[in-house]
Parts: sequence; structure tokens; C-alpha cells
Amino acid sequence: MIIARGIGELKNALRSAGGSVGFAPTMGALHAGHLSLVERAKKENEFVVVSIFVNPAQFSAGEDFEKYPRKEEADIALCRAALVDLLFIPKTEEIYGEDEPAIRAPSIGGAIYEGKIRPLHFDGALTVVMKLFNLIKPQRAYFGKKDAQQLWLITKMAKSFFTDIEIIPCETTREISGLALSSRNAYLSESEKNEALKLSSSLLEASKLIKKNETRSLAIVQAIGEVLKPLTIDYIAIVDRDFKPIDTIKKGETIILIAARVGATRLIDNMWI
Ligand code: PAJ
Repeated sequence: MIIARGIGELKNALRSAGGSVGFAPTMGALHAGHLSLVERAKKENEFVVVSIFVNPAQFSAGEDFEKYPRKEEADIALCRAALVDLLFIPKTEEIYGEDEPAIRAPSIGGAIYEGKIRPLHFDGALTVVMKLFNLIKPQRAYFGKKDAQQLWLITKMAKSFFTDIEIIPCETTREISGLALSSRNAYLSESEKNEALKLSSSLLEASKLIKKNETRSLAIVQAIGEVLKPLTIDYIAIVDRDFKPIDTIKKGETIILIAARVGATRLIDNMWI
């Protein structure tokens, strides 16, 4: 595995890539969810690139940029074991200059749900992903359905800017308990981790109701809200694949989104129906 920290090293290493390049961008503190993207990329490409970069531009003021978990040594070992070909770990100065142009997330799609609570978050995420796309020029890029709105916006961006990069959605990896893996789970105490299970349990409850032919979004939202109690809920939303709210659930067209706070930690989860 080649580890590149500078753009020059990255470009050199990419020259040795034969065949298609698959790319999984991450912010590190890697877990089995990240590794599932790598595994899929390995299956579908000759050369796999992973990036680890805690992107300051996608954290709003007062968020967890400083305390975001950084575990470089462990991450390198995990990438090596996963047979990653090239690991890119740039410093901020390599990625950002002064007074630069940037990508602006869609004015509606980037301002709802996560975007409403985290202003500028998607501008920052899209900007860094576009920079990484231009540096790495992959044929395919892998993103988790766990971050459904991010996946949607990146798919839109890749298409709108004619990148020719195929965006591959990957299933959410969960603990056996149901908890969706997230680097931010590291912030949870044992008792908070138990509370955090309410997110996946609430989605399970929703899927039970849907199996019993409940299709009314309002009824599903209420049921989810009951299970999430007493957590602070940021939103429970039932949307179509274009993130438009829908009153009636339709199989193959619906995503249930939830965001809630467990103590000081914000968690999101979702279910694609
Ligand atoms: P990060 O949170 O590190 O996630 C990197 C990728 O892993 C994203 O595509 C995310 O959706 C996926 N992922 C996270 N948890 C997952 C899980 N439990 N199962 C499957 N996939 C999961 O998302 C980001 O970083 C950043 O915004 C980034 C795209 C790297 C831009 O900075």
C-alpha cells in the first residue's frame, strides 16, 4: 500500500494504477462501515484509493472539528489489511488555499434536513469531494446510504458537473444491536450507547408497521417519535428519493430519515423502503 501525503506523491502513485480506479473518501476513525465501501470498491476495480481527511470546511462553527476522532495509525493498519492500493492522507494546506472558489450545495436540497441544522455543511462536503474527485479521477466512487442526503447531493453534483464518475451507494453497516456504525459513536458512554439504540429500534418499529400495510407517513412518524422518547429529535421525515416529503409510503421510492441527540452527540439514521 502506498501512503501519499502530498499531491505530488498522489499523482505519482496514481500513474502506477492499471485499469479502473475505485475511490472511497473518508474522514478516518475507520470502522466496518468504511471498510464495506473499500471491499465493494476492491470487487469492482483494479485499483482502490481511500482518502482520510477531516475536512474543516464541512464543520459549522461550534461543531466537533477539534475533537473529531483521529486514529491515523489504526486507520493505516485497517487499510493495509483491506488491501487498499493507495491511501491519501493530506494536510489541510495541501487541499485548501486562500480565498478560493467553492462548490455551493443546491439551494433547496442543501438547506433541508441536515443542511438546516448544519448550515454550510454540504457546501464544505461537496467542495472537498469535488477536489478529491479532480485529484484522483476515479471511475467509481463509493458512498454510504447511512448519510443519505450527502449521497443524494454528491450524486447530483457528479451529474451536474459532468464528472463521468459513477457514484455507488453502499448499504449501512450496523452493529449486531442494530446501531449504525459511525465514527461519532466513539463519543457515546455505555449508557448513551443504549439510548442510541432507540434510533435503529424506531426504524425497526416503522418497518414492522409497514409490513402490516401501514402506509400513512403521519402514523409512521408518530410511531418513530414514541420509540425515540425521551431523546431530543431534530427531525423525523418521510421523503421520496428526491427528498420531497410524501404522505404515503411507496415501496422502492421512500426513505425514512431520523436525526436525534443522545446527550451532546448528534446521530442520524435512515431506512430505504
Ligand atoms: P465519513 O463520515 O468518514 O464517511 C465516509 C463514508 O463512509 C461516507 O460515504 C459514509 O456514508 C460512509 N459510512 C459511514 N458510516 C457508514 C456505515 N455505518 N455503513 C456504511 N457506510 C458508512 O462522509 C464523510 O466522511 C465525509 O462527509 C466525506 C464524504 C469524506 C467528505 O469529507
